[in-house]
Amino acid sequence: MESKTMNLVVPDYIRSIIPYVPGKPIGETQRELGIRKVVKLASNENPLGPSPRAAAAVRKALKDLHRYPDASAYELKLAINRHLGIDPGRIVTGNGSNDVIDLLVRAFCQPGDAIVTSQAAFIAYRICAQIQGVRSLEAPLTPDMRFDLGAIAELVRRDPKARMVFVANPNNPTGTYSSREELRSFLKEMTQIRGGSVLTVLDYAYWEYVTAADLPDPAELLKEFPQVVVLRTFSKIYGLAGLRVGYGVAAPEVIATLDKIRQPFNLNVIALAAGAAALSDKAFVKRAREANIQGMAFWEKGLERLSVPYLPSQGNFLLADVRRGMGKRGSDVYVACLKKGAIFRPVANYGLDGWLRISIGTAAENRFALEVLTAESGRNVKAGRSPRKGSIR
Ligand SMILES: Cc1ncc(COP(=O)(O)O)c(C=O)c1O
Repeated sequence: MESKTMNLVVPDYIRSIIPYVPGKPIGETQRELGIRKVVKLASNENPLGPSPRAAAAVRKALKDLHRYPDASAYELKLAINRHLGIDPGRIVTGNGSNDVIDLLVRAFCQPGDAIVTSQAAFIAYRICAQIQGVRSLEAPLTPDMRFDLGAIAELVRRDPKARMVFVANPNNPTGTYSSREELRSFLKEMTQIRGGSVLTVLDYAYWEYVTAADLPDPAELLKEFPQVVVLRTFSKIYGLAGLRVGYGVAAPEVIATLDKIRQPFNLNVIALAAGAAALSDKAFVKRAREANIQGMAFWEKGLERLSVPYLPSQGNFLLADVRRGMGKRGSDVYVACLKKGAIFRPVANYGLDGWLRISIGTAAENRFALEVLTAESGRNVKAGRSPRKGSIR
């Protein structure tokens, strides 16, 4: 049937959106390329699977599927309160933390306002802003690819319509972070700008993986700075990316505003139950954290052997400089490895055309994917070449 053209009126700021491109799914890769063995290290997921306690809670919750979810997320907030000591009145739930990012921009910005972040910051900030006709101001990265908080503060200072700052700590896709000292002095400066009315959103999606002692505990910053909003997710260490559970912590008046515009049932019955149960799964978190530390060390060594520089990362992924290490663009390495069954993540949409993001997998997945990358590099590392460290690490 021939479709008729509609004269749809789409605002320019919507028309110009470049949609988010997720990591390529395993099933799609198998279908398109006709290959069976596919390893996905492209979406910073937990390779160990979901928290077993969460999975048990999901099975139990199946009997309640005919009921609407608890819109107040009472049990989940109680579990967060037990876990972190945070008052339930300071928590907003989200369909993934991405939902909370969207809520924040919708609640506190109008078309023409601006959010401020960094180049190569997690891309959802920019997309959520653009959807609302809100501008994104991005400070350049420091030479060692970290957020330049001084430059971010300057952008806020200069633009009276800057309403909100987004700092991912650590950031995805760079894996780099801002230290306690840097963040505290930035937040102090922000309290001086426009009476401290500019919110600073600290995205702690990877907090449970962090090993650096000087990466600040978000609970400390929340106590000290009333304008801080902290984002947390169950998608990473708890292994619940497919369920979509996240939350934000902020001052009660911030939360009350977000709750006004939130879809009442933004978390379903299964997600609510799984999130609450996952928080008590300390053994799983420990196992996932240890596996990540080992997997990270495996990739660091592997990339050093290939003479591919990388950024030291505080997340469950790392960013490899394939342009310097292999003389190729990230998207070309991605396509070549995809054909051999290893899905990595090209990051040209972050302005990082020469880089490739690698999520940490299981030991077997890491071995297979490194073999694929090694073949693509054209280097014969088994021949006993001495590793050369890149200048970044
Ligand atoms: C820094 C950062 N924030 C937030 C998210 C969104 O996570 P989710 O919506 O699954 O909670 C991600 C996902 O990759 C991320 O890397």
